[in-house]
Amino acid sequence: MSENRNILVTGGCGYIGSHTVIELIHHGYTPVIADDFRNANRKVLEGFNELLSFVPEIHEMDICDRKAMKALFASKKFHGIIHFAADKAVGESVENPLKYYHNNLEGLNVVCAMALEFGVFNFVFSSSCTVYGEPNGVKEVNESSPKSQPGSPYGNTKLIGEQMLADVHNAFPKFKVMNLRYFNPVGAHPSGALGEFPIGKPNNLFPFITQTAIGKQECLVVFGNDYPTTDGTCVRDYIHVCDLAESHVKALKFLENQSGNCLEYINIGTGRGSTILEVIQLFESRSGLKLNWKFGPRRPGDVVEIYANADRSRDVIGWQPKYSLSEAIDHAWQWEQRIAEIR
Ligand code: NAD
Ligand code: UD1
Repeated sequence: MSENRNILVTGGCGYIGSHTVIELIHHGYTPVIADDFRNANRKVLEGFNELLSFVPEIHEMDICDRKAMKALFASKKFHGIIHFAADKAVGESVENPLKYYHNNLEGLNVVCAMALEFGVFNFVFSSSCTVYGEPNGVKEVNESSPKSQPGSPYGNTKLIGEQMLADVHNAFPKFKVMNLRYFNPVGAHPSGALGEFPIGKPNNLFPFITQTAIGKQECLVVFGNDYPTTDGTCVRDYIHVCDLAESHVKALKFLENQSGNCLEYINIGTGRGSTILEVIQLFESRSGLKLNWKFGPRRPGDVVEIYANADRSRDVIGWQPKYSLSEAIDHAWQWEQRIAEIR
C-alpha cells in the first residue's frame, strides 16, 4: 500500500458508512468523513468513541457543494474514495424524484470531478441490486444478468450512477472504479455500539421487525402471501452490515493492485435467499419473543425473489460473508434494545 492511507468516506456517519469507517481503521486506513448529517444521528459519534476511543475526522458538509468539496480536496491528499452519500428512501423518491436526481447524481458528479482534478483514482461506489430491476425468471443474479428498469427513481439513480462512472472511466482509464451492488444490508455492530437509526416509520423489513418487537410499532404487515415462492412471501438476500463493510476494504485493496483500466461490478450478498416468514420465524426463535404480525396486500413495485450469485465477490476481491442470518438478527435485536434506552 502507498504511504497515503487517507480515504474519503462520503456519508460515513450513516448506517453502512459508519460500520465501514471502523473496518477501514482496523485495516490501517485513515477515513476522512464528509457528511452533513441529513440522515445520520449524532449518536454515531458516541459509537465511534466507544469502539475506537476517538472520533475520526469529520467534515460536516454537503457533498454537492462544489466549492466546499474543492477546499477539502485541496487541503488533504486522498488515496481513495468510498462514496456512500445519497438519499435512499424508495417511496420518497417516487414522490420527490428531483430530490433524488439532484442529491444522488449531482453528488456523484461533484465527487468524480474532484477525484479527477486531484488525481484520486481508487473509487468505490455504493450501488444496489435494485439495478437488476425485476429479474425476469432468474432468481440468482450474477453481474451480467440482464437488467430490467429499476422500480423507482432511487433505483434509476443507482443505474445512472453506474453508467456515469463507466463513462468517466472510459474517458479517463486511470480512474479505477468498483461498483458494489449491495443486496439487503441488515444487522448492527456486534458490540452494540453502532447500527441504523431509522427516521420515522421504517420501510425496511428488519427495523420494522425489531421496532414491533420492542413495541414501537404495533404490528408488522407482511406484504403479500401469494407470490410464487416456497411460502408465498418475497425472497431477499440479507447481508450483515459488518460483512458488507468489510467488502469495501477488500474492494479498495483490489483497486490499489490494479495499474489502471479497471471498471468492476460486484454483487455483495450471501448467495442465499430467505422468505419473510423464514426471517420472522428465525427472529422469534432467536429472541424468544412472539412477534405481532399479519398478512397484508402486496407492496407495489416489490421484486418477487432475488438473491446474489456471490462468485465474483469471492473470486475477484476475495470476500465472503462471515456472519449468519441468525447473528444478523441477534445484532439487530441487541441494537434495537440499546437505542430504546437512549431514545
Ligand atoms: P444512510 O442514509 O444511513 O447513509 C447515507 C449518509 O449520507 C447519511 O449519513 C447522510 O447524512 C449522508 N448524506 C446524504 N446526502 C449527503 C450530502 N449531499 N452531503 C453530505 N452527506 C450526505 O444510508 P446507508 O444505508 O448507509 O446507505 C449508504 C449507501 O448505500 C447509499 O448510497 C445507499 O443508496 C446505498 N445502498 C443502501 C442500501 C440499504 O439498504 N441501506 C442498499 C443498497 C445500496
Ligand atoms: C428495498 C427497496 C430497494 C432498496 C432496498 C435496500 C423497495 C420496493 N425496494 O428493497 O430499492 O435497494 O430496500 O435494502 O422499497 N416487507 C414487509 N413488511 C414491511 C417491510 C418489508 O413485508 O413492513 C417485505 C418487503 O415487501 C420485501 C421484504 O420485506 O419483500 C424486504 O423489504 P425491504 O427491507 O424494504 O427491502 P427490499 O424490498 O428488498
